[in-house]
Amino acid sequence: MDIQRLFDRGFAECAKDVQLEVPLRIYCFGCLLASEKKWSEALSIYRALEAGNWQLHFVYYAIGACLDRLNRLEEAIEYYDKSYSVSIRNACLINKYRNLKLIYGPTPPDHISTKLREIETHVRSAKREHLVEQDNDSSHGYANYYDNEDYIDSYLKEFESYFEKGDSILDVGCNVGSKLYGFYRKGCRNNGGIEINANAVQAMKKTYPDLYSDSTIYVGDADEEMKKIQPLSYDVVHLHYASAGIFHSETIAKFFQVARKAVFFCDGVERNPAILHGGLFFHDFEGIAESTDFQCADKLVRKKDNRWNRQGTRWIYIKK
Ligand SMILES: C[S@@+](CC[C@H](N)C(=O)[O-])C[C@H]1O[C@@H](n2cnc3c(N)ncnc32)[C@H](O)[C@@H]1O
Repeated sequence: MDIQRLFDRGFAECAKDVQLEVPLRIYCFGCLLASEKKWSEALSIYRALEAGNWQLHFVYYAIGACLDRLNRLEEAIEYYDKSYSVSIRNACLINKYRNLKLIYGPTPPDHISTKLREIETHVRSAKREHLVEQDNDSSHGYANYYDNEDYIDSYLKEFESYFEKGDSILDVGCNVGSKLYGFYRKGCRNNGGIEINANAVQAMKKTYPDLYSDSTIYVGDADEEMKKIQPLSYDVVHLHYASAGIFHSETIAKFFQVARKAVFFCDGVERNPAILHGGLFFHDFEGIAESTDFQCADKLVRKKDNRWNRQGTRWIYIKK
């Protein structure tokens, strides 16, 4: 099954497509139910696929995600443990990590602490391979990455009423900085960027020298770099398609501490945790935002997610 195709076309459309194999369509129905937070119903659908032995690594992952949402954390871990196919192993591990932390709290017994450390070490090294040791032509490749100015301007238009000339933007996962340069062209100054791929930052230096010299660029893993940034340091924190490379949800929560005015997210179109959205980790932006002093001013869900023009789902959070 090519999950990417499901994202490109959208689950609703695939579910209706009689040309597709029936279990795949049923899987899409499960994903639609999960996206409506109907976890018990989605679980029944995935259980039926489990009984039919269909694509068990995906189905186990989806069952684990539904059980999570139904607060059946230990059962969820059993499913994540079963679902260690190479392609989704890391996502299962990170979910297991989160559940162990929720189950055992801040002072887990020694054997659980050891397990947590092992998971973190493994996932962080997988992330390095995925994001840093990649070549220029990979999906995270840096040259010419979304660099068309018309495209960037139309992307920024949706955010325009929520920032103004003189604001500072922190762009997490900024790559070469094409979006950050868009903000710069709109008059934003003293911006910041966090990027794990040092080659992309070198390319930024050459491609957008004025932006580079005006900004503070943190070359490293957002999970570490965000810790160095003081609360209320930037007017806006922006993230475009980088959450899949962020390990800790606390890192996303920190966005709301660092931003003085607004937090902008644009990320995978199908924001439901029952399916992997093309990356390693899933973050529930809306759940994270709930315990902050920000409110969602605007949300736009797009049903399709064109791979090379990514503009999936977009949220604008503003300070209450
Ligand atoms: C899909 S690209 C989006 C690029 C950028 N937002 C843009 O619009 O051009 C994701 C970027 O986030 C970076 N990234 C992912 N996880 C990261 C992390 N944990 N820390 C820093 N950068 C990360 C990747 O290296 C990559 O450059």
